[in-house]
Amino acid sequence: MRIDIVTLLPELIRSPFEASILKRAIEKGIVEVHMHDLRKYGLNAYNQVDDYQYGGGAGMVMMIEPLDKLIHELKAQRDYDEVIYMTPDGETLNQGMANHLSLKENIMIICGHYKGIDERARMLFVTKEISIGDYVLSGGELGAAVLCDSLIRLIPGVISDETSALTDSFQDGLLAPPVYTRPADYKGMKVPEILLSGNTKAIDQWREDQAYQRTQQRRPDLLNED
Ligand code: ADE
Repeated sequence: MRIDIVTLLPELIRSPFEASILKRAIEKGIVEVHMHDLRKYGLNAYNQVDDYQYGGGAGMVMMIEPLDKLIHELKAQRDYDEVIYMTPDGETLNQGMANHLSLKENIMIICGHYKGIDERARMLFVTKEISIGDYVLSGGELGAAVLCDSLIRLIPGVISDETSALTDSFQDGLLAPPVYTRPADYKGMKVPEILLSGNTKAIDQWREDQAYQRTQQRRPDLLNED
């Protein structure tokens, strides 16, 4: 998979790709992530990328021309399965979307700033609009990092234990069950007996029950989805 990120602040989004699982995925050649500094495509001597909004009001709007130049250049080199715009009024990211996007070949992600990008850029270039939650960030970069992390870890070969991503919360529509590691007794707090029993069938059943109970207690809304 190849991900192209269009941003005014490349330095804000670089570090998640320089550590841990995402770094390894890049080193293994499973995914390529490229940052594109939109400022380089700015207009005039000031490399202008934003302007006041028509109709008045506080906040700047990202202009269409710099985006057009950069996106045009990228699209001339390859076809994109999705051109994603990170925005609080997009569809809220969930595990299903991450699963779906993890199967794509080429993805472009546009990070907005200020009041966002000119509506015509959304109409012309964007195929999918994603929010990471009902709150406003100062820019789309942190949202893009969250999106990339959620989908890259699902690509086969990225997580060494293939089954690990499959047993995550949400992957089967339920939250994950509780987990324990050594010591078996910590200051009198014991690990549930069944997990020490070696009876894999009973353990699987226990985990399933716990996952269901946890979901019912914490996120009953998930049980009512289709
Ligand atoms: N940009 C600003 N706020 C955002 C959000 N909640 N999700 C995605 N991109 C954003």
